[in-house]
Amino acid sequence: MKVGVARERAPGERRVALVPDLVPKLAAAGLDVLVERGAGDGAAIPDRAYEEAGARIVATDALYKDADVILRVQKPSAEEVGRLREGQAVIGLLTPLIDPTLAGKLAKKGVTAISLDALPRTLSRAQGMDALSSQANVGGYKAVLIAAAAYGRYFPLLTTAAGTAKPANVLVLGIGVAGLQAIGTARRLGAVVRAYDVRPETEEQVQLVGAQFVTLKTAIDATGSGGYARALSPEEQSAQQAELNGVIAGMDVVITTAQVPGRKPPLLVTGDAVRAMKSGSVIVDMAASTLGGNVELSKAGETVMTENGVTIIAPDNLPATMPAGASQFYARNISALLLHLVKDGGLALDFDEEITAATVITHGGAVVAEPVKALLEPATAGATASPAGTTR
Ligand code: NAI
Repeated sequence: MKVGVARERAPGERRVALVPDLVPKLAAAGLDVLVERGAGDGAAIPDRAYEEAGARIVATDALYKDADVILRVQKPSAEEVGRLREGQAVIGLLTPLIDPTLAGKLAKKGVTAISLDALPRTLSRAQGMDALSSQANVGGYKAVLIAAAAYGRYFPLLTTAAGTAKPANVLVLGIGVAGLQAIGTARRLGAVVRAYDVRPETEEQVQLVGAQFVTLKTAIDATGSGGYARALSPEEQSAQQAELNGVIAGMDVVITTAQVPGRKPPLLVTGDAVRAMKSGSVIVDMAASTLGGNVELSKAGETVMTENGVTIIAPDNLPATMPAGASQFYARNISALLLHLVKDGGLALDFDEEITAATVITHGGAVVAEPVKALLEPATAGATASPAGTTR
């Protein structure tokens, strides 16, 4: 079976789905690796490195003609969809719950679409395939570096002949994968870190990484299912915002990462909270997207400076800003999923198996993933979004 690696064409995307290190592993499973010319350029991986690892560099036309399976990071563009052919499979972060029409088009073409963001995140044997987590990890790290670069003072306590610099006070809201990495990174830079989440089990995790857990008086246990939080009621949300306002006012840097799968991101930092912050403070809203964000005044993909001098950054693709590191992790995730689906050198899809059932979105000319089907036929089924619905 021939496995092709596509060159990403989405604006700003610099990651690549496979790195040379993993080519021998796929070859050992009987797979031939074809790489679209220049696929690794954005991540500073030259074509030569893939060739030395045993892959073949091919032109775009040859890739789409010859590959049985195409590996990619983001969903294919309209032009790339046009190139895909019946019987071919494509694996990537296809966001089928955000863009179900793409799934519909791929099904119509007879393409098998396999989406990494549909993987059940709580399944321990799927951890090595969990691209949402690996990329959120990169994002949490980079969010802190961006905040530190935008903050006009030191993160660590510094005592010098010219005086003493106080450490920065950093608050992390939402302690999932990105939040934990943000806490660790801010700690390593020497900041004093506080963190908050609505799932009580996160308190111990926060302490383990050397930060202080913020306990609100209106303690809300919003543990949901599958390791995620549930959405708060409007009353719970206003109580939470009111209490958080007091904490946020004393912070130099706030990083927000709160999400509830399939829902609009919870609003944690109100306009009033931002107006009470000191001039020079920085907020990074990782959850910001077209659906909204955790910060009332953030604008997805933009940096906003408020009248009281607070910088609010809402980066839209942090992993792409660290393309080599992010691709290294992503390539491991996608290879693990591919090898899981391969038997005797070919794709063998067993729909009774949990990982296959969750990640295969279209097959045999039809949309097979129930949550996606429900979105495409809203009149005939109750559409509910699953964790994958939050993928960016
Ligand atoms: P996650 O699901 O692991 O963590 C989210 C956390 O938010 C959970 O611990 C949950 O309990 C918490 N939460 C939910 N509602 C809350 C509330 N009302 N108050 C406090 N905490 C609450 O998610 P992960 O993977 O860490 O991603 C976090 C966010 O970052 C997502 O929105 C994701 O899309 C985004 N992201 C953004 C990137 C970017 O480039 N901007 C890159 C990667 C991820």
